[in-house]
Amino acid sequence: MTSSLIPFPDTITTPRLVLRAPRAQDAKAINDAIRESFASLHQWMLWAREIPTLHETEEFARENASRYRRREDFPILLWERETDLLVGASGLHPRDWSVPSFEIGYWVRSSREGQGFVTETVEALTRAAFEHLHAERIVIRCDARNVRSARVAERAGYTLEATLRRDARAPDGHLRDTLQFVRLAGE
Ligand SMILES: CC(C)(COP(=O)(O)OP(=O)(O)OC[C@H]1O[C@@H](n2cnc3c(N)ncnc32)[C@H](O)[C@@H]1OP(=O)(O)O)[C@@H](O)C(=O)NCCC(=O)NCCS
Repeated sequence: MTSSLIPFPDTITTPRLVLRAPRAQDAKAINDAIRESFASLHQWMLWAREIPTLHETEEFARENASRYRRREDFPILLWERETDLLVGASGLHPRDWSVPSFEIGYWVRSSREGQGFVTETVEALTRAAFEHLHAERIVIRCDARNVRSARVAERAGYTLEATLRRDARAPDGHLRDTLQFVRLAGE
């Protein structure tokens, strides 16, 4: 399958959010959200070792815009419809087009945690993956200690299928167990 031919929408609208690919001009908003949320991101996300410079965030946004345009990957920003605030980021990441299977990741800015925005996003991306990409399998993986993340997967209807013991190094250097949640087409 040639990924550039895949008809995945540019924008997905949910009751409270607009979900769309990053653009270079979003860099300031993304960088501000990362700064606000750094303590939490640093705890759980390997990429958040240091606060990125604005230039690095611009590069990230440009690169991800281009990957989305080519339908190689579906990095997503969450924008609050009521305020236009950047609420967080997510992504629907192709893992095996021959299945097809995907993985969803996410983070939310600290001031918008605990309001259901991430669950709303995961539900919408899950629907879009089944509808537009004919996904057979979507996984969400998180550190077994990341209770908030596991709760998102459960709320969005994912089922715990495995605990992968000593699966990876957490950002703090400790070996982590990984919870693997899954949703299958038709479930
Ligand atoms: C993991 C993370 C994304 C979870 O964020 P979250 O805000 O708890 O998730 P949601 O946006 O789905 O919000 C759910 C919470 O809002 C509450 N809520 C309020 N209004 C809601 C609504 N309309 N719909 C659903 N939930 C709502 C829920 O009860 C829930 O609270 P609870 O967990 O205390 O029961 C966030 O903690 C984070 O960004 N952590 C750092 C990065 C990270 O760990 N990413 C995941 C790596 S695997």
